[in-house]
Amino acid sequence: MSQLIEIRDMCKIYNPGENEVRALDGITLSIDNNEFVAIIGQSGSGKSTLMNMLGCLDVPTSGQYILNGEDVSGMSDDELSDIRNREIGFIFQGFNLIATLTALENVELPLIYRGVPGKERGELSETALIKVGLENRMEHKPSEMSGGQQQRVAIARAIAQAPPIILADEPTGNLDSASSAEILNILRQLHAEGRTVILITHDNEIAQKADRIIKIRDGRIEQDYIRNAAVQEAVVQEAAVPEINIQQPIFEENVNTQEINA
Ligand SMILES: Nc1ncnc2c1ncn2[C@@H]1O[C@H](COP(=O)(O)OP(=O)(O)OP(=O)(O)O)[C@@H](O)[C@H]1O
Ligand SMILES: [Mg+2]
Repeated sequence: MSQLIEIRDMCKIYNPGENEVRALDGITLSIDNNEFVAIIGQSGSGKSTLMNMLGCLDVPTSGQYILNGEDVSGMSDDELSDIRNREIGFIFQGFNLIATLTALENVELPLIYRGVPGKERGELSETALIKVGLENRMEHKPSEMSGGQQQRVAIARAIAQAPPIILADEPTGNLDSASSAEILNILRQLHAEGRTVILITHDNEIAQKADRIIKIRDGRIEQDYIRNAAVQEAVVQEAAVPEINIQQPIFEENVNTQEINA
């Protein structure tokens, strides 16, 4: 797999000075094309801040961000916006749907901003809604849909133009377990199609659905490991192997652990 994202020693400091918050405190990480990564951490650990950086929605205080071989750290707002439009589909926790628009219109909206012509816009939006299983809800407004359906509209909006990177911040945060499972299946499917999926969550169980888990705490990477489904199942079946505890990975600050063949 080729390298997609490289972040070097990234810091984000809010309110520099006496009351400063080091939301990101020296993050170094790389992500390859077509990885499925979960970024996990407690509330306030810096997950959304990191997502904002990865998604070119904000710029770091210091450090470097290389996306697809291009250094985006010093780019202008216009350049960043171009990159966002071309490369990234965002799924936010609060859905961010517009209440007065139908599902179809919500999905079409960003395509209007991007200048996609009407017919193509309609086709892309319909295809995306069909993909998330909402072919019978296209003319429904958000208030006429369940939380899980609204989140699927938000996913359709993110994927309509087939961006290579999907960034999802707590996409299952407000959902029951059945709807969460559906959303995770859609993310897995997008990954299987060749996209890079970055899933942000505070929920360890959700994170276990990704192939790789990056754990952050106080703006630093605490752990970064490849999940091995076979090992995980073995742990569940043989509780007698205490040293491999995937649910509560052993704390190793600033050490990248790879549990590929553990
Ligand atoms: N605009 C801001 N100004 C000042 N401090 C901020 C700002 N945004 C975030 N912070 C602080 O930076 C830290 C990281 O916040 P962030 O939103 O990244 O956390 P998070 O891991 O996404 O948490 P949650 O799980 O609650 O969404 C927190 O301590 C937060 O209070
Ligand atoms: Mg957050």
